[in-house]
Amino acid sequence: MKKIAVLVSGGGTNLQAILDAEKSGIIKSAKVVTVISDSEGAFALTRAEKAGVEAVCIPKKSADFEARLIGLLDEKNVDLIVLAGFLSILSSEFTRHFEGKIINIHPSLIPSFCGKGFYGLRVHQAALARGVKLTGATVHYVNEIPDGGRIIAQKAVEVLPGDTPEALQQRVMKEAEHVILPQAIEDICSVDAAESEGR
Ligand code: GAR
Repeated sequence: MKKIAVLVSGGGTNLQAILDAEKSGIIKSAKVVTVISDSEGAFALTRAEKAGVEAVCIPKKSADFEARLIGLLDEKNVDLIVLAGFLSILSSEFTRHFEGKIINIHPSLIPSFCGKGFYGLRVHQAALARGVKLTGATVHYVNEIPDGGRIIAQKAVEVLPGDTPEALQQRVMKEAEHVILPQAIEDICSVDAAESEGR
């Protein structure tokens, strides 16, 4: 069984999708062992506690933020770090330390509407302003370039007439993010498990 850390900043609907997928058996090769938030008020922490999972807050403002984060992740000896609505940008020291072990969910079809400054609702505001008819979500590996790592999975979602950024965000989460993120976790962890058992 692979050990996962989920890093969050806010509401945690993607975290919930991961926890639900563990329960329903969509994720069967991995287990969330810790949820770490960079902000104190994050509802994601409550979701973790409700599910009986360790919930830790390391405030983004703390001077030793990344050192504490690395320390905790090393201590837990996690196999995969999932950025699920985690809005802090990680340094290249961090991404190198966990090379090939970090994935992120982004609410657009990369390479559209991604990179520095594109996060949360801003992504959907930009998609509507540009007038795209299709948007979606992407799961990708994390390297030193924001949203620049290798793409693992994508799912397209239609933009509908009259969409607001909020309505579009909800549809992209429900139809794309909450589907492809748990599946990508299982795909990665089941392959890793098979390799380490020599199957
Ligand atoms: C999600 O839409 C996620 O894709 C996005 O923030 C939201 C968090 O929601 N992440 C980014 O924009 C990262 N660049 P959640 O806390 O309910 O999962």
